[in-house]
Amino acid sequence: MSFMWTVASLVIALVVVSISHWLYRWSNTKPKCIGKLPPGSMGFPIIGETIHFFKPYGFYEIPPFLKKRLLRYGPLFRTNIFCSKTVFSTEPDVIFEIFRQENKSFALGYPDMFVKVLGKDNLFFKPGDIHKHLKQITQHLLGAESLKQKMIGNMDQEIRNHLRLKASESRFDVKDTVLNMVVASMTSMARREAIDVIKDVLTRRKESKEKHGDFVDTMLEDLEKENTIFDQGSAISLIFSILVVAKEGVPNITSIAVKFLSQNPKALAELKREHKAILRNRKDKGGVSWEEYRHSMSFTNMVISESLRLANLSPVMFRKALRDVEIKGKNIRYTIPAGWIVAVVPAMVHFDEATYENPLEFNPWRWEGKEMIWGSKTFMVFGGGVRLCVGAEFARLHIALFLHHLVTTYDFSLVQDCELIRTPFLHFTKGLLLNISESSK
Ligand code: HEM
Ligand SMILES: *[C@@H]1O[C@H](CO)[C@@H](O)[C@H](O)[C@H]1NC(C)=O
Ligand SMILES: *[C@@H]1O[C@H](CO)[C@@H](O)[C@H](O)[C@H]1NC(C)=O
Ligand SMILES: *[C@@H]1O[C@H](CO)[C@@H](O)[C@H](O)[C@H]1NC(C)=O
Repeated sequence: MSFMWTVASLVIALVVVSISHWLYRWSNTKPKCIGKLPPGSMGFPIIGETIHFFKPYGFYEIPPFLKKRLLRYGPLFRTNIFCSKTVFSTEPDVIFEIFRQENKSFALGYPDMFVKVLGKDNLFFKPGDIHKHLKQITQHLLGAESLKQKMIGNMDQEIRNHLRLKASESRFDVKDTVLNMVVASMTSMARREAIDVIKDVLTRRKESKEKHGDFVDTMLEDLEKENTIFDQGSAISLIFSILVVAKEGVPNITSIAVKFLSQNPKALAELKREHKAILRNRKDKGGVSWEEYRHSMSFTNMVISESLRLANLSPVMFRKALRDVEIKGKNIRYTIPAGWIVAVVPAMVHFDEATYENPLEFNPWRWEGKEMIWGSKTFMVFGGGVRLCVGAEFARLHIALFLHHLVTTYDFSLVQDCELIRTPFLHFTKGLLLNISESSK
């Protein structure tokens, strides 16, 4: 009997020793690269620190996950989330460089659960050359020239129609309504533009068999290599991929802009002044023109930038190191090993006192006289590098047109403020509700 006990104790001791050894190895993982890993802890086996990463926090708070680790390890630290060895970076210079190194040292590296949200087949997950070509086509569809020449009229019309309908119902949820507006604008773009343009260019090019040495040639070759032809189906899936991304951001940021304006009478008054002046100077009875958007909406644009800064709709972006990459810190060099995930958090820059005085205050005037360059080191709400959001101008134009019609045509008041929570992605536990009626004046 005592022999059995001895054996049992030995076995238990062995199990305990090997588990602790495994745990020790886990939290002190030494990869095969040469160089020094950033400091940090790998948390529990398999789940790592994922649970802490998703811990909810308030709109104006620094994520508790980051706060704790920034204090302990500094602005570059290692961890394990989503079963992946990950390095977090919160410094503007480092983030900017990581964006710049897309497809050289880093490539898009979103964890599966994020990929699922946008659809596994979303064309923007494609790397390298295919991404480059898609990006060019998309820029063509969504860039300033196309917005100005083709889309602004339709967008304006959809926004006016939807607002008129809502005024007849006297109350509306801003997020849901803007979502319908965006879908309507995008659908009409898809119908009128994309399919025909893309099909046209590509069929003509294929039939002519001529080589132009430009991206269309390369894309045709790429796609033929993979035995797919960029046909109508591909054009539709491109539009669909864009639509899925577009639907994500604009409704939320519009709600947040309206929320801030409703709570800041001074800013709302200034915004109204700007838009009434536009109406006074408008010669025809048509909608908002591109010139008005570009040259007569400077305060509106300040409101939009400020809302984007505080909202941080993309609180974390993911890349994967394609090779061992050395990151230089203040007095130290760290190595991010090949295959590791890099999570960048520009939100920390947008909430940084050194860059934005009283960072938690909604203050559109802070943008006065500043050149608004998105993708710059201090303003990365639309990401940066070659992955820079291709819908940035679309989004800003849509918000501007919405605000224009809301403040020039209607009286409105806040019925229900939205309730926001970050996990770290923004969630509306309650939507923003407005009372709305045709303006008496
Ligand atoms: C307020 C609204 C928006 C915000 C804050 C936003 C933010 C972003 C960010 C941060 C990225 C880069 C992601 C990364 O590098 O990992 C991105 C990419 C992208 N965005 Fe937006 N976006 C917004 C609206 C839109 C709209 C309206 C569209 C389309 C009409 C759009 C289309 C895209 C596309 C296609 C990409 C992928 C670009 C690429 O991979 O090259 N976005 N967006
Ligand atoms: C990076 O881009 C180049 C040229 O665009 C391409 O040839 C290469 O395959 C890409 N590499 C990766 C890892 O995507
Ligand atoms: C909103 O409108 C309803 C009637 O349509 C009215 O009873 C209510 O007091 C209004 N609320 C606000 C906050 O203006
Ligand atoms: C917008 O809000 C919805 C509703 O809470 C949320 O599911 C979605 O992830 C948000 N999108 C962004 C980009 O913040």
